[in-house]
Amino acid sequence: MKSVTMVPVGGQLEVATGSRLVEGLLSQDLEIDMACGGRGLCATCHVYLRAGKDCVSPPSARELRTLGLLATADPDSRLACQCHIEGNGIVVEVPEGMYVQSVEQVDALVGTVAGYDYLHPITGQRLIPKGKLITRSIFNEFVSAAKELKRVRETPT
Ligand code: FES
Repeated sequence: MKSVTMVPVGGQLEVATGSRLVEGLLSQDLEIDMACGGRGLCATCHVYLRAGKDCVSPPSARELRTLGLLATADPDSRLACQCHIEGNGIVVEVPEGMYVQSVEQVDALVGTVAGYDYLHPITGQRLIPKGKLITRSIFNEFVSAAKELKRVRETPT
């Protein structure tokens, strides 16, 4: 077993050596949609490894390509579905905000104030900041994001 520290939520995870980081995060009831089914093609499992980068498997070319599209990526960025835990000392930061899961979800929120940051499921970009009124034109941006997500989901591996 290996130990992983989470920030800013706090807490320590014990994960099996060789298992994927995302499995440890899901065991903590974190909202991780895994929109592409864990294939390294979306942003919904994006995390920052603030320490212990050498304690996980290195990124594949596909992961690097996906991270290259993320507006919110920094040099610590990884996709949790692609990281296999190999050592102790990992500190993982989970980005704040919710990813858009369905058009219907957002349609129902038009005219209300966003209770969270809503993030684009592929680029990780903040589509609606917390506290902003969700208008019809913002909703239309979600429709495009949903179309893009559908295309990614249907991409053969
Ligand atoms: S679940 Fe899509 S990249 Fe990890």
